[in-house]
Amino acid sequence: MVILSLILLPFLLLPLLYFIVRPRPVNIPIKNRHVFITGGSSGIGLALAHRAASQGARVSLLARSLKKLEEAKESIRLSSGSDVSIFAADVHDYDVVQKAVSDAGPIDVLVVNQGVFVPQELEKQGLDEVKFMLDVNLMGSFNVIKAALPLMKQRTDRLPASIALISSQAGQVGIYGYTAYSASKFGLRGLAEALQQEVVADNIHVSLVFPPDTETPGFERETEVRPELTKILAGSSGSMKAGDVAKKALDGIQSGSFIVPCNFEGHMLAIATAGLSPQRSFLMAVIEVIFAGVLRLVALFFQWNWYRCIEHWHPRKKDT
Ligand SMILES: NC(=O)c1ccc[n+]([C@@H]2O[C@H](COP(=O)([O-])OP(=O)(O)OC[C@H]3O[C@@H](n4cnc5c(N)ncnc54)[C@H](OP(=O)(O)O)[C@@H]3O)[C@@H](O)[C@H]2O)c1
Repeated sequence: MVILSLILLPFLLLPLLYFIVRPRPVNIPIKNRHVFITGGSSGIGLALAHRAASQGARVSLLARSLKKLEEAKESIRLSSGSDVSIFAADVHDYDVVQKAVSDAGPIDVLVVNQGVFVPQELEKQGLDEVKFMLDVNLMGSFNVIKAALPLMKQRTDRLPASIALISSQAGQVGIYGYTAYSASKFGLRGLAEALQQEVVADNIHVSLVFPPDTETPGFERETEVRPELTKILAGSSGSMKAGDVAKKALDGIQSGSFIVPCNFEGHMLAIATAGLSPQRSFLMAVIEVIFAGVLRLVALFFQWNWYRCIEHWHPRKKDT
């Protein structure tokens, strides 16, 4: 009887979930549309810019350093022949961001990607560094979205538009050494879940991308200062190339996925942390419902392993 119910469960779930998943599936075209990427002069943002330009999008980039922006513009011109608009601005400064966004013109796909990460135990980290991460990663994202949203709503083509936020796997699970960074990235989830409800009537679709460690200039700087325990706990999962993350991110944006994982581990994390987040795909919804319990067990094993590492590390550290 139990086995029969387990076999029948997916068949009963399919029609139910097909009927109830919200928001409805959507496709967001990229070709000939205006893609505006913050933090687009380096790493994941730059790789996304290359990909969007090669798919025929009109691309604009915003970052602080004009020199890096000019180098990015030239590299995209050489690889795809596209002319990119660049804006030197700090996301921290709302007025400057607003001017850049209005000079760039109505945006169809907004990728809020800028981010800074300085790992350190909270006890050792200065509050200035904590504030810096919250200001750039979280408040900066509010500034960019707040500046772009009115113009996005007024777009004339009425095709589906997108706001994509680049979070991090540290925005799905807290890891030793990332108290400030994780807080800033967990904050993006609340922003994204509430914002999706506010903008769905305007045919604007929110995506939240969760990259793992990714080989970028920012990541190189970060690994130099990682606390030892962060290296042990976070280092167990491998890293991805920026181009591969950009591909996953752009595919996820184009399919309107709310949660966009980038690798196998990311898919497991997405199912384990699905909670009350929106889900457009009824097939993904079936997988979430069926595997939620099993993945909670896997998550508990991960926690067991992490806490075991921490318990062993402290006495060893005292001895040295
Ligand atoms: N690399 C990873 O392992 C990894 C993993 C998970 C998530 N992420 C997330 O992915 C995003 C991109 O990371 P990345 O590794 O590609 O970083 P990156 O190579 O350091 O690039 C960061 C970009 O953001 C810009 N930026 C930084 N602060 C800014 C500010 N205040 N105002 C405007 N632009 C600013 C930088 O240009 P300027 O310095 O010239 O301003 C640069 O273009 C971040 O949100 C990060 O948290 C990265």
